[in-house]
Formats: sequence, structure tokens, C-alpha cells
Amino acid sequence: MFPLHLLPDNGNLNITPGETILAATLRQHVPHVHACGGRAQCSTCRVHVLEGLAHCSPRTADEQALADRLHLPASVRLACQTTTAGPLRLRRPLLDALDIELTRHTLTHPDQQEGTQRQVAVLFSDIEEYTSFADAVPPFDVVHVLNRYFELMGEVVRAHHGHISDYIGDGLMVVFGLKQPATAVTDALAAGQAMMQQVSLLNDYLEQMYGRSFRVRLGLHYGPAVVGHIGGRGFRKLATIGIP
Ligand code: FES
Repeated sequence: MFPLHLLPDNGNLNITPGETILAATLRQHVPHVHACGGRAQCSTCRVHVLEGLAHCSPRTADEQALADRLHLPASVRLACQTTTAGPLRLRRPLLDALDIELTRHTLTHPDQQEGTQRQVAVLFSDIEEYTSFADAVPPFDVVHVLNRYFELMGEVVRAHHGHISDYIGDGLMVVFGLKQPATAVTDALAAGQAMMQQVSLLNDYLEQMYGRSFRVRLGLHYGPAVVGHIGGRGFRKLATIGIP
């Protein structure tokens, strides 16, 4: 076991051979930011090695790729990728007290981690000519109709293992594959078809009430994405950020 001196915490910690710096700091209850969960896909766990760089393991290929992309100097290492064969003195770029609070929050709420990489299908929908509908009917009617529409869409989404990630005006963003990755695409396609059927039922109602009907457009994307919780601690929602 080697000594690990950490600034600005001024903490005297220890690290065992083969243990990453991040594992060592978390083991000793340091609120060390690690947004991607230790997968070399962010730079939030970075540390500046003040002494002991020669003891550090060489950069992994993933760490090197990230270091090249961000032009990180040799002395800045990803804590989740770096082990040591000797004592270390490090500074982590702790920005302010808010970082500590946010990291403590994610450590104590593992269901609200900042992000994990997943293969997901994302279905987008919007209502064609929605603005002209909203202009033509009173605002209370718009809210009533949208709630009815979203209720119907929500039932369909849940029945096909989807998760509504966002309401954007009249638009919906739905993620498939969070719980059942193997069927993400087929679930999304089936949900899309079922949504269209529900819209045609809703249109009977809209015709009767307002002499109008909705035409809904759908778009589907499948691929890798970072899925995590975004927002202040009082209100966090699941967000999906595509990986190019
Ligand atoms: S936690 Fe993201 S690279 Fe270390």
C-alpha cells in the first residue's frame, strides 16, 4: 500500500497496487467527480500529478485518445484509468463546493448517476400544423387536448417498454432499450405503429369537438447514447445525449 496525498482536500490517503486512483479516493469517501462511471469517456475525474508521475501506469488507449482530444499535458491523468507503483501527490481540479455537493448526491443516489453509455432507440414525434391548431382554439382547450393526446401516447409507450424522456411543446421524445436493450428497435417500431392507431381514434374526438384532426410525424434513431439524469437536485429528469 502506498501513500496518496490529495490536494486541495489535503487528505492523506492510501492506494493499493493495481487500484486506480479513482477507486482509492472513492473507497476513502472523497467526493471525486466521475461522470462517465470510470470508462475513460469524460475528463471529470482528472487529477494533476504533482509528484510520482514516474510511478503511474502508462495511459490506456482510451485515456490517450481523450488526452489527445483535450490536449491534456502528460501530468494530467484520468483517475479512473491510472494505477501506481509508488507514492503519489495529486491535485484534483475541484472547482467549488457545488461540485462536492453534486458528487455526494450522486454517490448517495445511485439511481441518479450522471450518465452511462447505452444502445438505445429514440423515438421523436410531433404534430403537424400544431401551431395553427393552438392558434384556432382557446388555450384551455389546447391544454385539455394535449393532455388527452399525451395520456394516450403514454399508455402506448409504457406498453412497449419505453420511457418518455421529454415533452417539447407538442413533441415527445421516448427512449427504448433502457430495461430491455435486445428489443429496443422492435419495441420502438411497434410503439410507433400503435401511436398512429391511437391518433386516428383521437381524431374522431377532435373532429367532433373542433372539426380538426392531427397528423403525427415520427422519427426514429438507434445507436449509442449517454443516458443520465440532468437537472438541479430538486428536479432531475432522464436525458439522452447521442454519441457521434
Ligand atoms: S470517470 Fe470519466 S474518465 Fe474517469
